Amino acid sequence: MDKLIITGNGPLDGEVWASGAKNSALPILCSSLLAQGPVTLGNLPHLQDITTSLELLGRMGVDLVMGDKMAIQLDASHVTECHAPYDLVKKMRASILVLGPLLARFGKADVSLPGGCAIGSRPVDLHIRGLQAMGADISVENGYIRATAPGGRLKGATVFFDVVTVTGTENLLMAAALAEGTTVLENAAKEPEIVDLAECLIKMGARIRGHGTDTITIEGVERLHGCYHDIMPDRIETGTFLVAAALTRGRVRVRRTRADILEAVLAKLEEAGGHVTTGDDWIELDMKGHRPKAVNVRTAPYPAFPTDMQAQFVAMNAVAEGTGRVVETIFENRFMHVQELNRMGANIALEGNTAVVTGVEKLSGAPVMATDLRASASLVVAAMIAEGETLVDRIYHIDRGYECIEEKLQLLGGKIRRVPG
Ligand code: UD1
Repeated sequence: MDKLIITGNGPLDGEVWASGAKNSALPILCSSLLAQGPVTLGNLPHLQDITTSLELLGRMGVDLVMGDKMAIQLDASHVTECHAPYDLVKKMRASILVLGPLLARFGKADVSLPGGCAIGSRPVDLHIRGLQAMGADISVENGYIRATAPGGRLKGATVFFDVVTVTGTENLLMAAALAEGTTVLENAAKEPEIVDLAECLIKMGARIRGHGTDTITIEGVERLHGCYHDIMPDRIETGTFLVAAALTRGRVRVRRTRADILEAVLAKLEEAGGHVTTGDDWIELDMKGHRPKAVNVRTAPYPAFPTDMQAQFVAMNAVAEGTGRVVETIFENRFMHVQELNRMGANIALEGNTAVVTGVEKLSGAPVMATDLRASASLVVAAMIAEGETLVDRIYHIDRGYECIEEKLQLLGGKIRRVPG
C-alpha cells in the first residue's frame, strides 16, 4: 500500500487548478445508461472512484472510448447485464447510482447492497422507497436489491424524502427522466452536483425543472439521446486547498473553480481571518502570515456547510487561536481523524456529535492512518504545518477523491512524496 511522507515546510504559496468534481462525475457516468447514443464527458477527474465506475459500466456492456483531450465516450447501446456485483459496490458506495438508470431504461436491476462504511451505517432505504413509489417491485435477497418495473416502465409519482439525500435524489432524478408521466421530488437535495446532473440530463433530452431547489419536477420522456457535457469543478477539492493555505498561514489561488458554490466555506475562512478574493473562475485565500482564528462549524445539507469539509476545518482549528466547536449533523461516525490529529499533538475532545477543538501552537509529525476520504485530507493538510515528518498510511482513501494530490501540493511548495508500498 502506498504511503505519503510529508514534512512541514511553512506557508503554502502559489496556484493550483481544481479537477472535475468526483461527486458530479459519478452520477453523470451512471446517467449514460439512460441514453440511446454516445455520451461524451469532459473534465473527468482521474480518480480511483472513476476507474471503479468505468469498470462497473464496462462489465454491464457499456462501450467506453477515450476521445480527444481525455474526454470519455460512453455508449450504452449494447448493455447486456443489469447487474452491479458486490466486489465493485463494496469498493464504492456510489455504485448504487446505477439502480435508477437501469430500472428506468431496461425495466430491471440487480444491485448489491452497499452495506456499512467507515463513516456510519448509510442506508439506501430512501432510494428503494422512492423507486417503489414509482411502481417498482423491489426485494432484497442475498445481499442484493432485485428490482423490476412492471410492464417495463416506471411511472411518475410524488416522492417526499424524509431526510435530504444527495445520491437518493440523483437516483430518483435519473429514474424519473424515462418514467411514464410526471414525477415530483420533494425535500430534494440542492447540491450543485445535482444541478450538474440535471443539466447533463437536459442535454440528453430530459424535461426537468426546479433542480437546485427542494422541489424538482420531471416530465418523463420515452427516450434520451447522447450528448457532450463537461463535469463541474470539485468544490471540496477547492475548499481543501484553501484550508491548506489558511492553516499554513500562506496564500493559495485555485483556478478552474467556482466561488458561487462555496459560499458557506468561504464565509468561515474569512471568519478565520483569511483574506478571500474571487474572480470568474478562481478563488484566492491569503492569510498574510497570520495564525487562523478558531471557528464554529455545523454541517448540514447544501447550501449550508458541507460535511465533506468538516475534517479539514477540524485540522485548521487544531492549530488556530482559540477554541472552535465543530458539529457533525449528517453522518453519525465521522470523526475518525480526531484521534489521529491528537496523535500529532492536537487538543480535540469529542462530545457526541461535536468536536471541541482547542488550538495548539504547533503540531508534530507522526505516523498516522487515513481512515476515509475526507479524514485523510485533514491529516495531509495538518502534516503541512507539523514539525518534522508525518507518514500517512492507507492513502488509497485519498486517491479515491483527490487527483494528483502530491503533485498539486508540491506546486504550492509542500514537501510531500509518495512511497510505493
Ligand atoms: C453524498 C456524497 C458524500 C457526502 C454526502 C452528504 C456522493 C457520491 N457522495 O453521499 O460525499 O458526504 O452526500 O453531503 O455524492 N440516508 C438515509 N437513507 C437513505 C439515504 C441517506 O437515511 O436512503 C441518510 C444518511 O445515512 C445520511 C443522510 O441521509 O445521514 C445524508 O446522506 P446522503 O446525502 O444520502 O449521502 P450520500 O448520497 O451517500
